[in-house]
Amino acid sequence: MMRQVKTLGLLGTGVIGGGWAARALHFGIDVLAADVKPEMERWIRGAVENAESALSRLTFAPLPPKGTLHFTTDLNAMAAKVDFIQENIPEQLELKQRVLAEVSRHAAADVVIASSTSGLMPSDLQRDMQAPERLLVGHPFNPVYLLPLVEIVGGAKTSAETIDAASRFYTAIGMHALKVRREIPGHLTDRLQEALWREILHMVNDGVATTGELDESIIYGPGLRWAAMGTNLIYHLAGGEPGMRHMLKQFGPCLKWPWTKLEAPELTEELIDRMVEGTQAQANGRSIREIERLRDDYLVAIQQVLRQFNIGAGSTLRALEERLYEENAGKARVAVGASGTAVRGAALGAGAGRGAGDSGQPLRLIETQVRPEWVDYNGHMTDSRYLQVFGDATDALFRSVGVDDAYRKSGRALYTVESHVTHGAEAKLFEPLYVLTRLLAVDDKRVHLFHALHRRRDDVLVATGEQMYLHVDTNAGKAALMDSAVREKLEKIRAAQSGLAPPPQAGRHVGLPRT
Ligand SMILES: NC(=O)c1ccc[n+]([C@@H]2O[C@H](COP(=O)([O-])OP(=O)(O)OC[C@H]3O[C@@H](n4cnc5c(N)ncnc54)[C@H](O)[C@@H]3O)[C@@H](O)[C@H]2O)c1
Repeated sequence: MMRQVKTLGLLGTGVIGGGWAARALHFGIDVLAADVKPEMERWIRGAVENAESALSRLTFAPLPPKGTLHFTTDLNAMAAKVDFIQENIPEQLELKQRVLAEVSRHAAADVVIASSTSGLMPSDLQRDMQAPERLLVGHPFNPVYLLPLVEIVGGAKTSAETIDAASRFYTAIGMHALKVRREIPGHLTDRLQEALWREILHMVNDGVATTGELDESIIYGPGLRWAAMGTNLIYHLAGGEPGMRHMLKQFGPCLKWPWTKLEAPELTEELIDRMVEGTQAQANGRSIREIERLRDDYLVAIQQVLRQFNIGAGSTLRALEERLYEENAGKARVAVGASGTAVRGAALGAGAGRGAGDSGQPLRLIETQVRPEWVDYNGHMTDSRYLQVFGDATDALFRSVGVDDAYRKSGRALYTVESHVTHGAEAKLFEPLYVLTRLLAVDDKRVHLFHALHRRRDDVLVATGEQMYLHVDTNAGKAALMDSAVREKLEKIRAAQSGLAPPPQAGRHVGLPRT
């Protein structure tokens, strides 16, 4: 059995190591980064900060607390302390073999060691390692923190447990683990990417087109199709009603001509100059950082659109969010108690509502912090985000009593019919917060909730949210009786909390003087 991953070790902290760090930290994994160059510490901290701006907008689902980043130049010490190692040193076989062999002598045998190699074969990489069965290729794509794909490739000695453990870990940090059936140089994606790139080099070399024109030939057409359907499914459509069979009949003969060339052209100085000048003209004075930011922003937006269609990277994002909400509900279930009777105040940590096990305390269902995109021009958490956080607390409570995905698919749901938010104190960027939830009333069709948002550092009340939910039959579009088991669990929580003094903000109307 391989280890549960709490700390990720990075071997090499360049472009790819930095990307892994940002992704892992964002999803609550601690990172111990190791590089031979001490100056890479500053670099990786900057890379993580840069990534955060787009990454923090990828999903609004409740995330676990961010992981912490440490750096060392002692590769072996890193190997001895971590639960999973991701190697990202330069693409040279002898160097990787030597470093992997050395590090494997310091990492326990149940620590997976994955290589980010773009094209080397895992059987070669594991040659001199101790416990080589825990080595595999986990090939990511730049930017690692936004692109979900990771190709998983085992070598001759890689165990099935290693492949499974790595897939589980990568999925946990929001990735799509594509298991490659057989090791080949370049895995799957780089083999495809290189074929395209080779043609680009030929056409630039032959003076047929500029780098910009060749990029246009992709971005206005095939590139838009690729993001959701790839090449094969799209070609299936190109064959009309008979699909791929007709497509092959029609275009098969041109494969013999052939349109494309198998070997790349010689990388002459002239060709290199054309490639460099072409891309500089495309950059049009913009720095690498500026273009990266633009790329990151649209990568977030594309994934959010694909999520609506539950397709490609959008389905990965959906599955991740579903899991994050479910994990939150799991914590809520602990707080609510398996039967709904043992209502506990501080099941998720310290702070107001202290005294876990105190029956009848408000439920502490959400831990969060003010994320960069939540702040307004005053530097404070903006209005709409209060409803978002209260909504997450409601979601956790409802899921914990059985109003989950399956319940919603059965055509029943609880709709918000009224909300009243009051504001008491400021919450600034990165302020850690938690929500305490009370169930004021419940009947066959209605649930009346009261949320209190507190600062974690001093327990000060930041805001309250009072909300009424109506149980509906979503097909009929009308109010309907809720499931009796759900009603019973909610009622138990309400009864347990009934001894608490009513919150002073509950039942207030807008503009009422404070008492
Ligand atoms: N750049 C990409 O787009 C990309 C994409 C996927 C995979 N990869 C693969 O990821 C790996 C790293 O690529 P990169 O682009 O991040 O390279 P990089 O040059 O940006 O980073 C490599 C890092 O490794 C460090 N290093 C060198 N020797 C070391 C040693 N012996 N021990 C520890 N650290 C050492 C360097 O100091 C540097 O910080 C390569 O195998 C590459 O094929 C790269």
